[in-house]
Amino acid sequence: MNDVKEKSALSQPAREEIDKWVAKYPEDKAQSAVIPALHIAQKYNQGSLTDSIIESVADYLGIPKIAAFEVATFYSMYELKPVGRHKMGLCKSISCMLMGADELGDHLQKKLGIKFGETTPDGKVTLKEVECLGACRHAPVVHMHNRYYESLTPEKADELIEGLE
Ligand code: FES
Repeated sequence: MNDVKEKSALSQPAREEIDKWVAKYPEDKAQSAVIPALHIAQKYNQGSLTDSIIESVADYLGIPKIAAFEVATFYSMYELKPVGRHKMGLCKSISCMLMGADELGDHLQKKLGIKFGETTPDGKVTLKEVECLGACRHAPVVHMHNRYYESLTPEKADELIEGLE
C-alpha cells in the first residue's frame, strides 16, 4: 500500500488486514475498501474510531481524508466515541417495534441504568438503537458481537446481560 510517511494510528496487524481487502479491488480503486478498512481500524482500537485513526485510514488508502470521514460519520456501525466491552444494538424498526422493541428498550435501559447511546459506568455495556437488522421475522432483535439475539423478551434479555463478563 501507500507509504505512510507520518506516524500512523494504524497498527501493523490492522494494516495487514486492510491490505487483504484492498487486494480484492482494482489497483486504482483502493477507496472501495474504505468500509472494511474502517471496520478493521475500529476493531483494533477497542471498538471505536478517533479522528486520527480515520485520517490514518484515508492516508493508508491514498484517498482524501474527507472521503473516510463521510463514511465513518454516516454509518451507525462506526463508533466515534469509546464504547463498552459489549455493544448491544436493539432494532427499533417497524417489525421489531410492532413486536415489543419499545418495551424491551425501556427494560434494557432500566436494567442497565443507562439511556440509549450511553455506556455503563463500569465500561461493560453500550446500548444503542439500530435500524432494521434484516431478521424481522424473529423480531424483536438485538445485535451483539456479530450475533443476533432473536425473539428477545425482557426475561431473555436479563439472562443475556447477566451472562456478560
Ligand atoms: S425490523 Fe427489526 S430486524 Fe427488521
